[in-house]
Formats: sequence, structure tokens, C-alpha cells
Amino acid sequence: MKYSTAIVGAFALCVSEVVAFPAAAIEYAAKAERDARTNEELESAIASFEKTRRAVGFDAAAQYVSNQGQYAFNPPKNVNTPLGDQRGPCPGLNAMANHGYLPHNGVATIQQFIDGTYKVFGMGADLGAFLALYGAIFDGDLTKWSIGGPSIATPSVLGLLGEPQGISGSHNRYEGDASPTRPDLYQYGNDYKVIIKQFEQMFALQPDAATANYDLSVLTPFRADRFQQSVSENPYFFNGAFTGVAVQPAAYTFIYRFMGNKSAEYPEGRLDQETLKSFFSVTGTPGNFKWTEGYEKIPDNWYKRAIGDEYTIPFFLTDLLAAAAQYPKFLSIGGNTGTVNSFTGVDPADLTGGVFNADTLLEGNNAVCYIFQLAEQMAPDVLKGILTDVTRPMDMLTQGITQVLKPYNCPVLQDIDKSQFAQFPGAKGAY
Ligand code: HEM
Ligand SMILES: *[C@@H]1O[C@H](CO)[C@@H](O)[C@H](O)[C@H]1NC(C)=O
Repeated sequence: MKYSTAIVGAFALCVSEVVAFPAAAIEYAAKAERDARTNEELESAIASFEKTRRAVGFDAAAQYVSNQGQYAFNPPKNVNTPLGDQRGPCPGLNAMANHGYLPHNGVATIQQFIDGTYKVFGMGADLGAFLALYGAIFDGDLTKWSIGGPSIATPSVLGLLGEPQGISGSHNRYEGDASPTRPDLYQYGNDYKVIIKQFEQMFALQPDAATANYDLSVLTPFRADRFQQSVSENPYFFNGAFTGVAVQPAAYTFIYRFMGNKSAEYPEGRLDQETLKSFFSVTGTPGNFKWTEGYEKIPDNWYKRAIGDEYTIPFFLTDLLAAAAQYPKFLSIGGNTGTVNSFTGVDPADLTGGVFNADTLLEGNNAVCYIFQLAEQMAPDVLKGILTDVTRPMDMLTQGITQVLKPYNCPVLQDIDKSQFAQFPGAKGAY
């Protein structure tokens, strides 16, 4: 793997400014050298993670995912009305509910999410548990939550300030900007309906049906393009700590890691055009694509991840860091300041009182520590908006995050300076 972008960028700056500022040139050279070291470290971290994976292999009987009988496709009724079935921004969860791997109404318990995501996609139980817990805390009633909007199955209960809003209603809590096919909330007024133009853009990454494979080598640059589109089109673009730096990468890596069809020939998966369309509920051909709300389907003869090769938290974080090494902006918490093309990143040192800083963010486990500790620091403010007493949800969240960070030996982050976010009008609800 190659992570040359940051280095090339640093040298480009160096060349253009070398005459006027020789001192700065020396600094840039030092930074370039540091980046090279960081990239080497990262490459070896990624390589050592790869070694922990068993040979993937393929077992058709164990990996086949049924879409027959009790798991036959059954579209939602009265989709996204308060009394109807809920479907939202997550095509994976929508497909699971359409095929009976989650309750058909789109409301499920933490355990149902853990079991279902393992059974259909081979998501690691550690990742399933953390993602489901996060949903229950921020978008549900601490035990269950909706994969779309509010539902009669998630009424307000004692301790909640109102009806749980589900993941469609969780902008800046769980749902964020610069998603693959879904719109930015403050640009389009909703955050879950596929924008055909964005799907077209993704589809066009692999135009040859015979060889198409939507893997990370095309999805990561696609993410960089989508990020830039939000910068240049959405005055309120906000790249939050959790929603931007942690969830946004999942929205891209999950496409290949989970939707890809595994086989003896492609044990890591091959995601072709038809399978992509099926999971995204899109029919037709380029120029005539049509999205049908709530019709995400598991294709016939589709095979999930190998048993023992689940997509776990360490696996996901390795993908997250590899993408960030290629495109350092992915780690930039910040946003536009009310006009397009005004993206300003918060300085990690200002935000964390110097516990973290931009130069060393990609070293060791710093990025992982930074993201999850920030999410924890920002949570109480967010939760105060939806619960009368934040003690119990904070205990649950702290437990979850402690579990995630256990292997990483993080520096202690006691406090953050939230005033840093005041310059971003699109950060509403994030702190
Ligand atoms: C409990 C587990 C899960 C939770 C809590 C969850 C939650 C979410 C949320 C909140 C979003 C919106 C993120 C954004 O704003 O960009 C999302 C998007 C997405 N999820 Fe999930 N998800 C889960 C499992 C899965 C699985 C198993 C898949 C398998 C394919 C998947 C695939 C995706 C994709 C591809 C997107 C991006 C959609 C787009 O914008 O085009 N997710 N998910
Ligand atoms: C998955 O791969 C197998 C083996 O190549 C193939 O028979 C099957 O049709 C594929 N499934 C899909 C949905 O493409």
C-alpha cells in the first residue's frame, strides 16, 4: 500500500514557498520526513493487523444468506409514517428488516442488531454491540431504536424528553454529512433519501459490468470527492468527531466489506453492479436510475463474510486509519463557517488542551483515542437535549468506549474546549 499524498502535498508547498521563506521550507521538509515515518509506522501497523487475520477461505454452506421462505423479501408498509414501517439512511439495516433478519417495523433491540448484523453480514459482535448501543443511547430508549424515524413502537418513556427520533432523526448525533448516496441534511432538508446523482457518481467508479468491483481502492477516493463536494456545496457542512471521523468511514468501507459477494474466487468479496444496485434499492441503468424507498434487497445466491473473518472493531479501525493516511482531511473535525468553501478544521491541540496535536495524530493509536474520547466528552451535552438524567446513558456509553479503547493505552483526556465549535453553524446538536 502507498500513502504518498501527504508527502507529495508537503513537498509541493515547500517548492512554492521556498524562495521567500527558507525557514518554512526547512519546517516543511521536517514535516514531510515526519509524515514519511508516520506512514511507515502505519503501514507496519496495518501489516501486523493483516497477520492476525486467518486465511479467509470460503465455505458456501456456512456463508450463504437465505432470502427465501421466512427470509423472503417483504417491503415496508406505509413506510416512514408514524404508524408504518421505518426505513432510513442505512441500506444494510433496511435490507435486514425487509428480509426478516430484523423486526419488519424497523425497531429492534440491541441484541437483535448484534445477532442480525452477524447473521447476514458477518459483522463482528464487538462492532455490532458498540454500534447498536450507540443507537439505543442517542436515538432510542436505551434498549431499542428505530432504523428510520419515530415509530409507535418507540414511544416516549419516563426519563425521555420526547419521542426517540431513530437514526434518520439523529443528525450530528449518529447521522452525518458527506455520506455516499444520502444528502447532507442542511443542504437538502432530509438525510436518508438516495440522491441519484451521488449514486450515479459511485456507480461510474466501475463502468465495466464484466469486471466491476466496488472495493476500497475506488470507494476511498469517492469518499474524498464526496467530502470535497460537501465543502463546496453545503455552507453548513460539519465533520463531527463521531459522525464525521468515525461514522463517515463506516458508510464507505461497509459498502465493500459487507455488500461484496464472497466466493472461493473472491474470498474478500466482489461487489458487482447488480449487487450494489440491489442493496441500494436502485433499478435501471446509468442515466435512468430509479431509487425506491424501502426496497433494499439481499440478492439471490449471495454469500456473506467468512466465519472467523468478521469485520471487527480493530479491522474497521485499520481501514479508517489507512484511509486517513491517504487523505488526512478525513481526520479534520470542523466545517464550513456559513458559506461554501470555508472549511476550517479545529486544531486538535486547542480542542484538547494539548493532549493531542495535529502533527502526531496519525502516530500510534492517537487518532483512535482522539475520536472516541471526544465522542465521550461531547456526549453529555447532546444527551441533555433528549433525557432528563444523563447518568445512566453516560455509564452505558463510558462502558462501551472503555471496551473499544482497552487495547490502545490512550492518554487521558479530561476536558475539551467546546467553544471551538461555535464558528460552525452546521454543528447544531453536536455539542
Ligand atoms: C447496528 C449496526 C449499524 C448501525 C447502528 C448503522 C447505522 C448507520 C447510520 C447511522 C448511517 C448513516 C451514516 C451517515 O450519515 O452517513 C448508516 C449508513 C450506512 N450503513 Fe449502516 N449501520 C449498521 C450496520 C450496517 C450494516 C450491517 C451495513 C451493511 C451493508 C451498513 C451499511 C451502511 C452504508 C453503506 C451506509 C451509507 C449509506 C449511504 O449514504 O449511501 N450498515 N448506517
Ligand atoms: C456470488 O458468487 C457466486 C460464486 O461466483 C455466484 O455463483 C453467485 O451468483 C454470486 N452472487 C451474486 C449475488 O452475485
